[in-house]
Order: sequence, then C-alpha cells, then structure tokens
Amino acid sequence: MTIKPSHIPVLAEESLRLLAIRPGSVYVDCTAGLGGHAAAAAVLLGPTGTVVLNDLDPSNLEVAQRNVQERCPGVRVVSFRGNFADAPRRMAETGLKADSLLADLGFASPHVDNPERGFSFMHDGPLDMRMDPSGPLTAADLVASLSERDLAKLIAEFGEDRAAGRIARKIVQERTRGPIKTTARLAEIVRSAAAASGSGIDPATKTFQALRIAVNDEIGSLAALLAAIVADGKRLLRGVAGDFLNPGATIGFIAFHSLEDRPVKRAFAELIAAGAADVSDGHVAADEQGVSMNPRARSAKLRVIRFGTMKTDMTTEKIEV
Ligand SMILES: C[S@@+](CC[C@H](N)C(=O)[O-])C[C@H]1O[C@@H](n2cnc3c(N)ncnc32)[C@H](O)[C@@H]1O
Repeated sequence: MTIKPSHIPVLAEESLRLLAIRPGSVYVDCTAGLGGHAAAAAVLLGPTGTVVLNDLDPSNLEVAQRNVQERCPGVRVVSFRGNFADAPRRMAETGLKADSLLADLGFASPHVDNPERGFSFMHDGPLDMRMDPSGPLTAADLVASLSERDLAKLIAEFGEDRAAGRIARKIVQERTRGPIKTTARLAEIVRSAAAASGSGIDPATKTFQALRIAVNDEIGSLAALLAAIVADGKRLLRGVAGDFLNPGATIGFIAFHSLEDRPVKRAFAELIAAGAADVSDGHVAADEQGVSMNPRARSAKLRVIRFGTMKTDMTTEKIEV
C-alpha cells in the first residue's frame, strides 16, 4: 500500500524540521501509522540511521515498515508491536537510545475508512474500536457492561459532551431491548438522545470519541509515555545518561484535542522549567495548505522540546514528506 493523499501526514515538514533529525541517528516513531512521518524521517537518517517503528495496530505497522524501506532502502528498521507506554522499556532492553522521538496521537485513517474496525458512525460495522485487534475489550463490551453512571462519566470526561447524562440513560434503556453490537445502532441511539447542535457536527461524534479513548486507554498510555520521558529527560538535564534517550534528544508530540494536548503541555512545561529547550516556542499549528491537504490537521498542535544544548537545524532546505 502506498500513501493516499488522504494519508498525508499531519505537520510532517514542521515536525521533522523541529526534531532536527541527523544522518546516522536513531529516530523513534511511537505511532508509526502508515509510516508517513517515519518514511520522511528515514530519508533524513539515510542508510546509516535507525528507525524504530511502534504501533498497537499490526496491519498499520506492516504498511509503515514497507513505506520506510521503500523510501530509504538500507536504513535499519526495528519494529515494536504494542503500546507506546512500553516503548521506553523495550528501547532500554534492546540497548537503543533515541536521538529524536515523535508521537502523532490518535487513530489512523484505515481505522475510520474500514467499517469492519468499528470506529466510524458514518458506516455500519461491528462496534469494536480496538486499535490492537487482540485487545481485551471492545466498545460493544463497554456499552454492554458499564452502569448508567459510569457511561455518563465516560462520555462527559472523554467526549466532553454536555448531553452525556441523557445519552447514557438512552443507551441503558435501549440495551434492555437487545445488545448494542453495531456502530449504526449506537449512532442512532445517541442521535435520538442528543439533538443536533446546529454546528453540522454529528451528535454521535463525541460519544464515539469517548468510547475510542476508553477502549484503547489513550489517556493512560499517553500519561505513561510522558512520565518515562520526564524521568529520562530529567536525568539528561542533570548530566546523567538516559535509559532510552540520548543527550540532545528531541521529542515531539502532535495532539488533536485538549485531552491529549493538556498532559503534553504540562509535562513539557515541567521539563522546560528543568532546563529543556522549548523548540516549538509553545505549539505549532498547520497552515491553510496543511489543512487543505489533510483536514484532520485543523485541530493539530505540535510541541517539540530538546534536552541539551545542540541547536535545532533551522535549514530552509525542503524536507520531502
Ligand atoms: C495518527 S496515526 C499516526 C500516523 C503516522 N504518523 C503516519 O504518518 O502515517 C496514530 C497511530 O498510532 C497508533 N496508536 C495509537 N495509540 C497508540 C498507543 N498507545 N501505542 C501504540 N500505537 C498507538 C494507531 O494505531 C495509529 O496507527
């Protein structure tokens, strides 16, 4: 599979430029996806570099490997299938240390494009939403098992939906008529409980986001990865060797909503206070052209920091993405 225009990686040029990827270094992609960022990074690393690809989704990981190898034959590729929360430990166990690390958070386009994966309220499919198809819990399991109170809490917290109470009540009523197993049925139930806001956004959007975040433990995984970066980063800033980061390492996160961006901002602020450089000077957003190439970029925020004194290469040379 090659990358379709809809898979143009978000803020790719900006992130790779700010990460200042050097030939022969080690780049870690915590969320390999289809390998858009990683393939462009591989070109900068060249055949003496190493790309570490990590993804929960084995089919995405396979596409990413192929794209990286096609774009930069000879580059060393190390693949970790699993949660990025475990990537720091796996790096340390493998004896690898990152010179640059990127996490482009959330789902990938095949998740929503393929109804069988159960992420989309636009097409009917099984109510699944697992990024890792061998994961223990589906969205249907959550919808079947949570109490009305816990469902309301989940939709309020991870969907930030003010109609959470009404939606949870309706779900609990409807599931007594038969298990809610498909995306179309859940979407209908949510739409019947929450009136359209007039914004043009489907009322099911927030409930689907909340269930996706819960099924994949997105906030917990992010917190674990950030905690490992904060701990290793502080070691580097004290002049002590890191477990999985090299001195001068650059770290980038691309977040798509405030539940993702807030913890990144907080962790980076702690590291900047401890002496890390704020390479992105707060956050960078996509320009009009970036949004027209990939509408998902509209809400994206890129933050990049660096441990150590090495200057980010602000070359104006074009980076091929
Ligand atoms: C936005 S996509 C990444 C796209 C990628 N940067 C590209 O250019 O193609 C996010 C990817 O992260 C993966 N993912 C999400 N949460 C994860 C986690 N906790 N651990 C590992 N992978 C995760 C998803 O399966 C998805 O493939």
